[in-house]
Amino acid sequence: MTNPIRTERHDNVLVVISDNPPVNALGQAVRAGLKNAIEEALGDSAIEAVVIRCDGQTFFAGADITEFGKPPVGPNLPETLDAMEASDKPVVAAIHGTALGGGCEVALACHYRVAVPSAKLGLPEVKLGLIPGAAGTQRMPRLVGAEAALPLVVGGNPIPAKKAEAIGLVDTLVGEDSLEADAIAFAKSKIGQPVPRASEGTANEDGVRDPDIFDRFRASQARRIRGFDAPNAAIEAVKAAGQLSYAEGVKKERELFTKLMTGTQSAAMRHYFFAERAANKIDDVPRDTPLIPIKKVGVIGAGTMGGGITMNFLSAGIPVTILEMAQDALDRGTSVMRKNYENTARKGRMSDAQVEQAMGLLTPTLSYDDLADCDLVIEAVYESMDVKKQVFSKLDEVVKEGAILASNTSYLDIDEIATATKRPGYVVGMHFFSPANVMKLLEVVRGEKTRDDVLATVMKLSKKIGKVAAVSGVCPGFIGNRMLSKRQEQANELIMEGANYWDVDDVLLEFGFPMGPFQMGDLAGIDIGWHRDPTKVTTIREALCAAERFGQKNGKGFYDYDEARNRTPSDEVKQIIADFAAREGKEQREISKDEIRERLLYPMVNEGAKILEEGMAQRASDIDVVWINGYGWPLYTGGPMFWAQTIGLDTVVAGLEKYELPVSAHLREKARGTGKFD
Ligand code: 3HC
Repeated sequence: MTNPIRTERHDNVLVVISDNPPVNALGQAVRAGLKNAIEEALGDSAIEAVVIRCDGQTFFAGADITEFGKPPVGPNLPETLDAMEASDKPVVAAIHGTALGGGCEVALACHYRVAVPSAKLGLPEVKLGLIPGAAGTQRMPRLVGAEAALPLVVGGNPIPAKKAEAIGLVDTLVGEDSLEADAIAFAKSKIGQPVPRASEGTANEDGVRDPDIFDRFRASQARRIRGFDAPNAAIEAVKAAGQLSYAEGVKKERELFTKLMTGTQSAAMRHYFFAERAANKIDDVPRDTPLIPIKKVGVIGAGTMGGGITMNFLSAGIPVTILEMAQDALDRGTSVMRKNYENTARKGRMSDAQVEQAMGLLTPTLSYDDLADCDLVIEAVYESMDVKKQVFSKLDEVVKEGAILASNTSYLDIDEIATATKRPGYVVGMHFFSPANVMKLLEVVRGEKTRDDVLATVMKLSKKIGKVAAVSGVCPGFIGNRMLSKRQEQANELIMEGANYWDVDDVLLEFGFPMGPFQMGDLAGIDIGWHRDPTKVTTIREALCAAERFGQKNGKGFYDYDEARNRTPSDEVKQIIADFAAREGKEQREISKDEIRERLLYPMVNEGAKILEEGMAQRASDIDVVWINGYGWPLYTGGPMFWAQTIGLDTVVAGLEKYELPVSAHLREKARGTGKFD
């Protein structure tokens, strides 16, 4: 392997350059190269300052995650950085791209940091279930203060260079096109001065003066960090930076880091990091497939779904023509979009000018002809095969050749929809999740005839509009809803057998889902699709509607709701369910939370295995990506398939057998074999 680190001399400044594509991850060779380069600088009296920079798209984007879990090979990052900071010749980090994780820790170990305005800096380790492990939790608060360090270390979101300069993380911004020259000039200006070391900084005293900032911060993040181990460890580490000496603080950081690194949450979140990236790749579609340029998009339907889909494109700067059947529906849809943008602006996440810019890209219309020159049209109309076919046949007539025709259907057969056109190769499913402008998942449904360039284009586009995409084959409900229906079946069955419906919801909440199925029913409205005849009761939902329990909208559904929408289990509902079960001849019994959890989740894993067996998902990790991004499956368990592996596929099989539920051949085979799906 060629050495990824080289050095260049510019008078009395040694410029140390990393060239380790794609993201200059700090693998062993990079660490060794950096350490040698510092030694070279220290051992050479002609060198009076050092600049560290990277070639390619970015400054070091972190430790090399692929090395995690493998036997460590020295030098490790902390010792490399300590050697850097110990230098009494000034060391300057010259930052472009994203200085993340270990990369940000390199910058912190340097005596000075200069950055181009487009650069970002951050400590995203929590997103991998970790905390910074090369003294980042100790140097950062000493440099910028505990209050400024907390969101960086605990939240994990990078900040722009300008903000980094404002909090003292970056010393100065330099020219976008003159990073190296400006960094060298900056380094020269510091020669002969005592070097400032972040480890000796005192900004962390803010956390000593006001120790409540840690509890306040924890409380403000309560909802976001529920269930995750790393954010609490991160708060503890930053707090330790104010309570302990630097050396003791580093020791504390190491303890916390090691515990997280060997735990299942971090393993799950690292699995997810690679799963998300793998999901965007389609194994049998060549990487260099030419893409179809998407300059203009059409959306049919200005309801909640169509409007949400449209906003994704507007926000990404892509013009959208939106079609409705009637003017009032069109006006309503347009004004909802505007309101959503204005709300975002009110929260400070968008400027007024950006709102106008996005809305300026929208063309409402009542005429199909206005879709003629779109490169992609997505329909979000009523879920009926007949309606969809009519829409596609009309689109086929009016939209230019070579344009992609996509359906947002959540369960209908894309291949059948495609038969309504003369261009089945250009038909694809783009299943967004509600609210479509917020939810990250895009399930891309690959029809039997969908062309490679159509798929490649949609996968690329998904990134541009900020979605996480995964490909599903054509089967009822695709990956996500197909597995959801198995969970729902069991939820319904469990309450018929006597489980408390609130226990069913609570089991899922305790597992880490944001909501259970009965809470979800109340939120969406129990009367959706109800026939409105209170005398006709064939399901529990109909029994609730007959008792005028419609959900949150009238303050009572499965639960009773107070003004603040807090839920309380209802004795009336428990009785309605018991009566209904008795009528159906179902005996009710007490059911434990363990049984509830196993019966809700194991059948999902079994269905996932069937999806894999049928080739409806490319890989088990794609299923994890779907469930984490579309249905709130807790990230820290890694998704249903990864989770099943961590508890043991044989445990899942035994559980299914215990409850006399079906076990797929594929699941059985994997349980007997490696215990892994891939
Ligand atoms: N280690 C190993 N591989 C990495 C990596 C890393 N830290 N970061 C990215 N990669 C790989 C990706 O897997 C991907 O590989 P692929 O092409 O084979 O799929 C490739 O680099 C490009 O990555 P992206 O597709 O994500 O490229 P983008 O341009 O969209 O994003 C990025 C670039 C913002 C740097 C993004 O990759 C990212 O956020 N990386 C992770 C950053 C991170 O979490 N750093 C902290 C690591 S933990 C750490 O540093 C511990 C320390 O405290 C001791």
